[in-house]
Amino acid sequence: MSIHTRLFAPAIALLFCHAASAQSTLLQGKKSGEQVYKSVCMACHETGVAHAPKVGDRAAWAPLIAEGQHVLTGHAWVGVRAMPARGGSNESSLAEFARAVAHMARNSGGDWKDPDAKLLRQIASEADKRLVKSIKEQQAMQRELHALVKAAK
Ligand code: HEC
Repeated sequence: MSIHTRLFAPAIALLFCHAASAQSTLLQGKKSGEQVYKSVCMACHETGVAHAPKVGDRAAWAPLIAEGQHVLTGHAWVGVRAMPARGGSNESSLAEFARAVAHMARNSGGDWKDPDAKLLRQIASEADKRLVKSIKEQQAMQRELHALVKAAK
């Protein structure tokens, strides 16, 4: 074994491990939807703070459920109007957050299951589309601000 192989083999093995674990991380997180709901979401969704759709209110949830699980979950993760991104807590993984949404939908007239890796990919893609949109909006706002400052010199 050359000195190079000896030096780089562990590094390469590490890289492969990293790639393998990166693939399985979409499902990471052991908290159930109910646990996340109780610790994070309940504060607003039990009472309907700022018009948050109340869990158990089938009429409020019917149009949300009709959007589809990947769309609704992706949008909620990024944040919707008064709904803060990730419910205002960075402690849950995407999978855990998605389980909380499924738990809420199940208790509000839907039959959503905890998402598998395939559905989580669709949720991530939907969230990504929303992020691209809001990044563009923020960049436009920044350009406007810069133009304002420049004109005021
Ligand atoms: C600080 C209060 C607050 C917390 C905490 C909160 N939400 Fe919300 N949520 C809202 C409000 C307000 C809305 C309604 C937003 C609107 O339609 O204007 C909302 C809407 C939603 C919607 C519907 C989104 C849509 O596209 O209309 C989902 C799904 C949701 N929340 C899931 C969650 C989950 C899951 C958690 C916990 C991880 C959570 N929320 C925590 C306030 C909260």
